Amino acid sequence: MRIISAKDYEGMSLQCANLIASQIMLKPDCVLGLATGGSPVGTYKELIAKYERGELDFSRVKSVNLDEYVGLDINSDQSYIYFMRSNLFDHVNIDLANTNVPCGTNMDAEGECARYDEVIRSMGGIDLQLLGLGPNGHIGFNEPDDHFPTGTHKVSLTEATIQANKRFFEKEEDVPRFAYTMGVRDIMQAKRVVMVVSGEGKAEIVKKAFFGPVTPEVPASILQLHPDFTLVADEAALSQL
Ligand code: GLP
Repeated sequence: MRIISAKDYEGMSLQCANLIASQIMLKPDCVLGLATGGSPVGTYKELIAKYERGELDFSRVKSVNLDEYVGLDINSDQSYIYFMRSNLFDHVNIDLANTNVPCGTNMDAEGECARYDEVIRSMGGIDLQLLGLGPNGHIGFNEPDDHFPTGTHKVSLTEATIQANKRFFEKEEDVPRFAYTMGVRDIMQAKRVVMVVSGEGKAEIVKKAFFGPVTPEVPASILQLHPDFTLVADEAALSQL
């Protein structure tokens, strides 16, 4: 595990965008595993700025997103497909046909999860997986459990996640209770994994996840065992180490 310490959110975002940019430059047809949430927004802004300066070409990049809420209309501004379009895809020259997000309106959970696993497999796996860290240690929507889930699956969101994510919705009742998420196996099979974490509120879970035991009760802890894992965090998030 490597830790890159940045002064603040902007510094973290720039460092992380640099890692992703080098991946695209070295392999223009790479497969990026992408994440949502507040943490990667700055990273996407930096990537857009690099694209606008003519430093990056997304035309051959393929992407596969971590997760999606079940039951939200794709035009809902809280769906993760909407998030990806407004925070990245609509601002760079990525071909939308090469982007993938689980289909949250497909109510056939088994079919959708099998389809998504096949999408990842057919792309030949993920070159670089970007992650955020849930306040309870979740990655994607892999919530604390008594085992590490493997492939794409439907999850029942924990109360902690509903509480953490309600800030994006008008009211708590609007937060979907279920989601589709890539499994821990899919994430661990990515060639490189990069996580962005920012703020004092995440300091305790950073310590637990990366300096505590590897346990499905803290899903991110398994990243300690990944051969190419980089944590890019600001000083506040690293303050308990
Ligand atoms: C959501 C997403 C995760 C994300 C997490 C942290 O639950 N499913 O992929 O990492 O939130 O979000 P934030 O970066 O806003 O703290």
